[in-house]
Amino acid sequence: MKASSLLFPLPKHLEDKDGVFRLHETTSVAAEPLLNAIGDQCAALLGCKRGGEDILFKVQKEMAEEAYRLTISKTQIVVRSSTPTGAFRALSTLRRLALLGENLIPCCTIEDEPSHSWRGLMLDCSRHMFSVTFIKKLIDIASLVHLNRFHWHLTDDQGWRIPLDGYDKLATIASKRTESQYTDGRTYGRLYTKEEILEVQAYAHAHHMLVIPELETPGHVSALLAAYPGLGCTKGPYAVPDSWGIFDEVLCAGNEEVFTFLEDAIGQVAALFTDPYLHIGGDECPHTAWDACPACQNRMKELGLEQSHQLQAYMTSRICKLVEQAGKRPIGWDEVLEGTEQLGLPKDLIVMSWRGLEGGIEAGKRGHEVIMSPNTAGCYFDYKHLDSEDEMGNLGVSTLRDVASFACAPPSLDPSVQENILGGQANLWTEKVCSAKQAEYLLFPRLLLMAGQLWNPQQSETNLRMRSLLQQLCDRLDVLSYRGPVS
Ligand code: ACM
Ligand code: ZN
Repeated sequence: MKASSLLFPLPKHLEDKDGVFRLHETTSVAAEPLLNAIGDQCAALLGCKRGGEDILFKVQKEMAEEAYRLTISKTQIVVRSSTPTGAFRALSTLRRLALLGENLIPCCTIEDEPSHSWRGLMLDCSRHMFSVTFIKKLIDIASLVHLNRFHWHLTDDQGWRIPLDGYDKLATIASKRTESQYTDGRTYGRLYTKEEILEVQAYAHAHHMLVIPELETPGHVSALLAAYPGLGCTKGPYAVPDSWGIFDEVLCAGNEEVFTFLEDAIGQVAALFTDPYLHIGGDECPHTAWDACPACQNRMKELGLEQSHQLQAYMTSRICKLVEQAGKRPIGWDEVLEGTEQLGLPKDLIVMSWRGLEGGIEAGKRGHEVIMSPNTAGCYFDYKHLDSEDEMGNLGVSTLRDVASFACAPPSLDPSVQENILGGQANLWTEKVCSAKQAEYLLFPRLLLMAGQLWNPQQSETNLRMRSLLQQLCDRLDVLSYRGPVS
């Protein structure tokens, strides 16, 4: 077997050589001091030992952060990178070679670095919760194919999952839904504990992924309102819904208590999550409650706003300020661009484009950094793999061909937009995904294809020719995967 036929994502430059490096339990690993932790991780993940220089991690200055060089000869493997992250990416490549080559690692030289810096996976843990064990399994696999962002969707209408000191009803009310759709009506859900959140973060960091928590505002807040009805326009009573939808009741834009709560919540979330980004939601926020609310109407008068949808821009701006005050960079779904004629948008807000590429293009033109995750181009993994009644999935179809041809920064885009595109992301919404195995079936092998398109984009036919390799990888990683037609 040649390395070039075993590797997905395909490295940027790869030269196959003759022979193999035989990996076994007495293979030894050494690392220069900066890369010591990677040396330990390499020994643990490849099942070898520390001590000698069969596998050697060396620091090479002036390489890009995630770049690496790998030289595999019959007698030694040498990895060069300027950072532990680059060394980790090399280790992931090595691991895939070892997994698929059954510890006979084909000799080759590789020079590799990513095309895009944001290579994300979002998991909705609001509608249905997933265990820390499963999240860690996903992070391990995602990082194995060089994904580097775990976007953790932790609050929504059907369940709030982040513990906040001083808000006990998040645990007793906001985290519980009635599952009349899926079970016999039992109560479902809880908060993650702070320990669990820290455990996920530590695991993600050890796998060189950042964790981005999402705190949905100003819509998709039914669960929060059920616990704290004073934050809504009508003051309730509200209930945690037992089905999916877009709900009219949202955070009141005219009530200062809402901003007091948000300041506290954002401050606590920013302290618990140590990475630089905080996602503030922003999608699918109806304005009907604002239209009927005296406090919101007063707010509009005070600001000289004519249309209630401009209140979303007001909310976005204030919430972004709170996020910045807490030392984080805000990210919002592309609806944050709407109603901004008078109030504008904070420049450092990153826009995540989900309703096609258009929102991202508009945001890029306006100088915002952009993450492309369009539901129109294969990025929604809650959609079916195939347009068939027999397939599980919801709302749409993202075929393997769609994912294999996904381009987060198509060459047809203006260079001024291109330069603002950080990368792309796959999203798994989970209203109808009740178990880890169902999640795996929807994620695989699409997640592998997505990772390839974000690391080193190829023609879709080139990707689809790797289908059996992707299948083998899924099997080796013990994930349930879709095995049907590509489109
Ligand atoms: C979304 O899918 N509502 C971001
Ligand atoms: Zn209101």
